[in-house]
Amino acid sequence: MKILFVCLGNICRSPMAEAVMRKKLGDAGLSEAVTLDSAATGDWYTGSSPHQGTRHKLDSNGVSYEGIIARRITEADLESADYIIGMDHSNIKNIQQLCTDAHKNKVYLLSEFVEDAQWDEMPDPWYTGDFDLTYEQVCEGCEGLLRHIRETM
Ligand code: 4NP
Repeated sequence: MKILFVCLGNICRSPMAEAVMRKKLGDAGLSEAVTLDSAATGDWYTGSSPHQGTRHKLDSNGVSYEGIIARRITEADLESADYIIGMDHSNIKNIQQLCTDAHKNKVYLLSEFVEDAQWDEMPDPWYTGDFDLTYEQVCEGCEGLLRHIRETM
């Protein structure tokens, strides 16, 4: 199974989700069963490490982001992923524009995996500066996603 997290720049939210999910899968003994990746809809930061705010938040929570480098989403990603998970509605719109009809049913918002979610979109700390809130929601989203994966495996 392959999961691709997508945001606008692939430096704040989607690498945070990839790193947190990687840790959760490892803790659950599911690293072998699920492949993770993340990508951007824009290409301003291709080749960059995660944003300093994301790195700081992950470091202080003992979550590794080793090997995570920003890149733009490709057609091959849309083909190979089983779950293409956007962080906000504009990500979903951008992904849908790149997708053929055959792939549109693989596109989700991260909040869809959270039961009784108190939020819908993942706030973008690039604009809000609030990496704490985004981290909390990323953890909640990844926990819900893990539960979903377990139920469907
Ligand atoms: P991200 O945040 O989509 O969570 O990685 C952003 C990063 C960069 C930009 C916007 C959002 N930017 O406009 O460069």
